[in-house]
Parts: sequence; C-alpha cells; structure tokens
Amino acid sequence: MTQRRKWTAIPGLLFLAIGAVVLSAYSGASSSQGNAPDQPIAFPHPKHAGPVAKGGLGMNCLYCHNNANKSADVGMPAVATCMGCHSAVLGSTDKAKAEIKKIQTYADFAGGGKNAKPIPWVRIHKVPEYVHFPHVRHVNAGVTCQTCHGQVQGMPKVYQASSLNMGWCINCHVNGYDPKEGQKAAGYDSVPPANYAGGVPYGTPGSNAGLMIAGGTPPTSASGSVASSPNVSTPSSERRRARYDCASCHF
Ligand code: HEC
Ligand code: HEC
Ligand code: HEC
Ligand code: HEC
Ligand code: HEC
Repeated sequence: MTQRRKWTAIPGLLFLAIGAVVLSAYSGASSSQGNAPDQPIAFPHPKHAGPVAKGGLGMNCLYCHNNANKSADVGMPAVATCMGCHSAVLGSTDKAKAEIKKIQTYADFAGGGKNAKPIPWVRIHKVPEYVHFPHVRHVNAGVTCQTCHGQVQGMPKVYQASSLNMGWCINCHVNGYDPKEGQKAAGYDSVPPANYAGGVPYGTPGSNAGLMIAGGTPPTSASGSVASSPNVSTPSSERRRARYDCASCHF
C-alpha cells in the first residue's frame, strides 16, 4: 500500500466506525424497556386514571403531570397535588391507609407542612443527556401519552413500554403520526363518534376530544399492555411528520 492509499482509507474506516455507532444507537442496546422499579409509595394508576367503568376515578393524565403540555420536561407530581385529595381521602383498606399515611408524612400534614419533603419517586423513562426530547411539542401535536408510554391507566405498576431508542424516535418522525392511531393506542375508545366535528385532533390529551367520553369503551387490557398495531389507514399526505436531521435531537 502506498502512503497515499493508506490515507484515503482513513475516511472509509471512520465512516464504518461512525456507522457502527449510529447503528447501535438505532437499535438501542442501551435501552431499558420493561423497567419497573419499586416506588416509595405504591401508587396505583388504575385507581386514579383508570376509567370510571372499571372502578377508577377517570382522572386526566394532565391533572398530575401538568407540565407535559407546557414544557420540555414533565417532572413528577408535587406532593401538594396528592394532598388536594389525600388530606381528606384516607383510604378504605389497610393497605390504602398505610400508603396514604406515607403521603401525609412527606407532606408533613401533622406539622402544618413546615417540614414537607418531595416524594422521592424513582424515575423510569430517561433518554441520555445528549438527546433533546421536548414533551410539549409531542403532546400539543396530538401524540397521546399512551402512544409512547403504553396504557398507563391500566398498569398497577408503571413500566417502560417502549424502547425509547433512536430507531423508535426516527420511525415515527419519518413515517409520520396519525392522531387516530394515537387515539387507538390510548385505549379509552377506539373509534371517533360519527358526529365528531373536529376542531382539535381526535385524541388530543387535555382537550377531552376522545379521552374519557361518557360511555367510551374502557381499556381493552387490564394488564396495561400496549394496544396492538392500529389498523387505521391515513393517506400518507395527512400524516403528521417531524424533522429527523441529526441536529433536531442532538444539539
Ligand atoms: C393522581 C395523579 C396521577 C395521574 C392522574 C396520572 N399519574 Fe402518572 N404518575 C403519577 C405518580 C405519582 C407517578 C410516580 C410513581 C409511579 O411511577 O407509579 C407517575 C408516574 C408516571 C410515569 C412514569 C414516569 C417515569 O418515571 O418515567 C408515566 C409514564 C406516567 N405516570 C404516565 C401517566 C399517564 C399516561 C397518565 C394518564 C393515563 C397518568 N400518568 C396519570 C401520578 C399520576
Ligand atoms: C413521543 C413520545 C412521548 C409522548 C407522546 C409522551 N411521552 Fe412522556 N416520556 C417520553 C420520553 C422519551 C421520556 C424520557 C424523557 C427524558 O429523559 O428527557 C418521557 C418521560 C416522561 C415522564 C418522566 C419525566 C420525569 O421528569 O421524571 C413522565 C412523568 C411522562 N413522560 C409522562 C407523560 C405524559 C403524562 C404524557 C401525555 C400527556 C407523555 N408523557 C407523553 C416520551 C413520550
Ligand atoms: C382527585 C383526588 C385524588 C388525587 C389528586 C390523588 N388521589 Fe390517591 N386516591 C384517591 C381516592 C378516591 C382513592 C381511593 C381511596 C380508598 O377508598 O381506598 C385513592 C387511593 C390512593 C392510594 C391507595 C391505593 C390502594 O388502594 O392501595 C394511594 C397510595 C394514592 N391514592 C396515592 C396518591 C398519590 C401519590 C397522589 C398524588 C400524586 C394521589 N393519590 C392523588 C383520590 C385522589
Ligand atoms: C409516535 C410518534 C413520535 C415518536 C415516537 C417521537 N416523536 Fe418526536 N415528534 C413527533 C411529532 C408528530 C412531532 C412534530 C410536532 C410538531 O409538528 O410540532 C415531533 C417533534 C419532535 C421534535 C421537535 C422537532 C422540531 O421540528 O423542532 C423533537 C426534538 C423530537 N420530536 C424528538 C424526539 C425524540 C428524541 C424522540 C425519541 C425519544 C421522539 N421525538 C419520538 C412524533 C414522534
Ligand atoms: C428523532 C430523534 C433523533 C434523531 C433525528 C437522531 N437521533 Fe441519534 N439518538 C437519539 C436517541 C433517543 C438516542 C439514544 C439511544 C439509546 O439510548 O439507545 C440517540 C443516540 C445516538 C448516538 C449514541 C449511540 C450510543 O450507542 O451511545 C449517536 C452517535 C447518534 N445518536 C447519532 C445520530 C446521528 C449521526 C443522527 C443523524 C443521522 C442522529 N443521531 C439523529 C435520537 C435521535
């Protein structure tokens, strides 16, 4: 090999190396799908966010996760949000009483809140620091929470339903998103009513368009598994697409 040919091989090798790294990011060897850590308080989503027809309170996800449609990061519900009810709702079973007592301890209910501490929830979903993920952009585009998180309203214990790897993000950005699919994934009711007039995309969280409408079919799976692949077909031109150049997710 001449000196010159050796040097021209370097960009090729570099390309291969970068290719391998990108490929590994695409398929996501580092993801923690299925992760379901124990929490400091055994908080049941089905009791709070599950449909009334299944014994839940039918609460909107945004009631507790109230930054999801406002900022890039959602964060965890403040203990004050819980105390709005749990200063008075003490629980009917021994287990419920014991868990609710813990909330009151964190909130320092007995001491008037002077020594209130945040509940140390264990974080489940996390992308690496070098990835830019703005919740608000997705939620306001009508991507339902369950599209990415699975049917949390049916999960006795939250687990990571999606891989969150790069290929997962890019698949949706390239192929586009249809709010009707998101509605189906949400699992509250699968079909928009015949007289649905639009306005906001059907299934937009927080808009009541398709979420928890009276008489809607409750989630199909009590175990909270992600709805099977939706069989709605939308003309390709009507799908909502997003940027997928490297800089949109990696500054
Ligand atoms: C009554 C308040 C409340 C409501 C309503 C609620 N959540 Fe939660 N959510 C919590 C709390 C508390 C946690 C932390 C404990 C846990 O993981 O169970 C949590 C955790 C989560 C997590 C895991 C966060 C992480 O660490 O990665 C997701 C995802 C989530 N909720 C989605 C939803 C969705 C989707 C809905 C609506 C179907 C919803 N939540 C409704 C209180 C609530
Ligand atoms: C497009 C996919 C997608 C949608 C839609 C989505 N999320 Fe997330 N969620 C994620 C990803 C990815 C993360 C990890 C983000 C990170 O590490 O910055 C996450 C993290 C979270 C967390 C943990 C945040 C924290 O700070 O501890 C909560 C809670 C959560 N999501 C709730 C929701 C709720 C409620 C909705 C609907 C209103 C929702 N998400 C919609 C993908 C999504
Ligand atoms: C809108 C009112 C409301 C809010 C807000 C609320 N809860 Fe509840 N929660 C209830 C009701 C009602 C019950 C059922 C109590 C019973 O009869 O046992 C309950 C039950 C519980 C239980 C006991 C479940 C069991 O049966 O073992 C826990 C734990 C709990 N809530 C935690 C929380 C936490 C943590 C928050 C804040 C993130 C929260 N709740 C916010 C109304 C609420
Ligand atoms: C189910 C579909 C879906 C998934 C999965 C998804 N996105 Fe998106 N994303 C969208 C849509 C739709 C928009 C466009 C929102 C708009 O038009 O305002 C968007 C917008 C964005 C934007 C803003 C782009 C811009 O134009 O500035 C970023 C950044 C982003 N997504 C990052 C991510 C990352 C990182 C992941 C994976 C962790 C991810 N997304 C997963 C559907 C998705
Ligand atoms: C839609 C959002 C999105 C876009 C666009 C995107 N990435 Fe990523 N990238 C991610 C996410 C999410 C991860 C974290 C994956 C994981 O943890 O498995 C990641 C991880 C990576 C990593 C780290 C791999 C590792 O294993 O540590 C590299 C390198 C990378 N991306 C390169 C690129 C390049 C080059 C492009 C442009 C061709 C690109 N990315 C476009 C979301 C994106």
